[in-house]
Amino acid sequence: MQPTKEAVVGRHNPCRLIQLTEFADPRGRLAVVQTGQDIDFPIKRVYYLYDMPSGTLRGAHAHRNLEQLIVAVHGGFDVCLDDGRNKAGFRLDDPSVGLYIGPMVWRDLVNFSAGAVCLVLASLPYDEGDYYRDYTDFIGVAGSAA
Ligand code: TYD
Repeated sequence: MQPTKEAVVGRHNPCRLIQLTEFADPRGRLAVVQTGQDIDFPIKRVYYLYDMPSGTLRGAHAHRNLEQLIVAVHGGFDVCLDDGRNKAGFRLDDPSVGLYIGPMVWRDLVNFSAGAVCLVLASLPYDEGDYYRDYTDFIGVAGSAA
């Protein structure tokens, strides 16, 4: 999948693939995510998903305020996005490409390859109150928002 800056989903903060700053030499590759260079938001939290069994679903929520960059640092997976009006799907399988997801976007992460690792860089500390975990509740707000 080629990185693109095209707006897809997310009315105020368009979700998009971001080609990260990368340094490659005969020793291998190094990718950088730096605030002000690769992303706009300050990174307040880092977490990663790993050891996913075949067929699992992760995500299945939206955030009121959180911004995130998701990177497949090993293997690959699909990210299905929905802002209440538009939907888009991305296959992440390149450690030098991140997917930016802004507020008010429902995301489902599926089709993890064996051994896949999903790195998430987040703009805010963990706050359960920032989540929509019920799709109907989310659509009720996002589908009618201006
Ligand atoms: P969950 O939101 O279900 O993971 P995902 O959406 O990425 O599939 O989170 C799983 C559990 O981990 C849940 O009990 C909340 C907890 N958790 C934290 O305590 N801190 C965190 O930063 C995150 C992302 C999750």
